Amino acid sequence: MKKIPIILDGDPGHDDAIAWVMANAIKEFDIKGITTVAGNQTIEKTTLNARRISALIGLDVPVAKGSDIPLLGNLVTAANFHGESGLDGPELPEPIREAEDISAPELMAKILKESDEPVVIVSTGPTTNVASLLLANPELKEKIKCISFMGGGLRTGNWTSCAEFNIVVDPEALDIVFNSGVPIIMSGLDVTEKALCYPEEYEQIRALGNPVAEVVAGWFDFFMKHLRTLGYRGATLHDPCAVLALVRPDIFKFKDLYVEVERCGHYTRGATIPDYYGQKNKKPNVKVAVEINREEFIQVLIDCCRAYNEEGGKI
Ligand code: BDR
Ligand code: CA
Repeated sequence: MKKIPIILDGDPGHDDAIAWVMANAIKEFDIKGITTVAGNQTIEKTTLNARRISALIGLDVPVAKGSDIPLLGNLVTAANFHGESGLDGPELPEPIREAEDISAPELMAKILKESDEPVVIVSTGPTTNVASLLLANPELKEKIKCISFMGGGLRTGNWTSCAEFNIVVDPEALDIVFNSGVPIIMSGLDVTEKALCYPEEYEQIRALGNPVAEVVAGWFDFFMKHLRTLGYRGATLHDPCAVLALVRPDIFKFKDLYVEVERCGHYTRGATIPDYYGQKNKKPNVKVAVEINREEFIQVLIDCCRAYNEEGGKI
């Protein structure tokens, strides 16, 4: 089978971590590298988490650290959701591999240059690294097959009433991505708030009994604590949607839309604004996931967790 070369860019983060557990188990993917971004926690913490996740899932690829701040503005973190480490909950193995001595955008550029075929970038945090890559290497755009990102929402927000966390952190970065001309898939709150994993489902994951599945269930335990206080009955699997939209488009519904990012609004900074009514007369720049088959999605999650063996490697 011809595999899809991908780069995983994120700010782990419980749902980033679950997205990477899934990506590593999906046979269609050839993971070329991991790049970290400041978001859920500081860059030092998200990078340490990325190296620990790699050790847990037996993923031996380069990890490179991104900038410690967004392109403009101050860093906002989400310790209320993800804890002080950014990935609180079950104990994780110590990292095996050091981080590279090049930056995240430099590693992305290296992977793109060395690849014989276009590479997919899966972005599950603020898009700071992706924007920096595009700004520094415009000639590499043609080597990017598509950017599948988690962020935004057509009708709602989760950090402010109208803006989603990843975009609140770095709206300028997403604006650069949206205007790049590279094909983009957006998994925003419209679908990710429906991608819920209920306790009886993550108990099925725990019951698989392998070390990766047990850690995933432990991440759910931690993540649900805060979500319960907000009235959720299941854990929102935001970031895994950006992975699954690539290999299981059949379980999503998409709309091609022209979408812009609010960067100036005093109350609305970070909102993603679709041109539903065609007033801008612009060609769609984003393929937006708007519906998801939740049950199928959870089945893929369970199958991915089943793919790990007793040692944490893949079966
Ligand atoms: C997004 O924000 C982060 O807390 C999650 O990891 C996800 O990427 C959801 O709004
Ligand atoms: Ca994330």
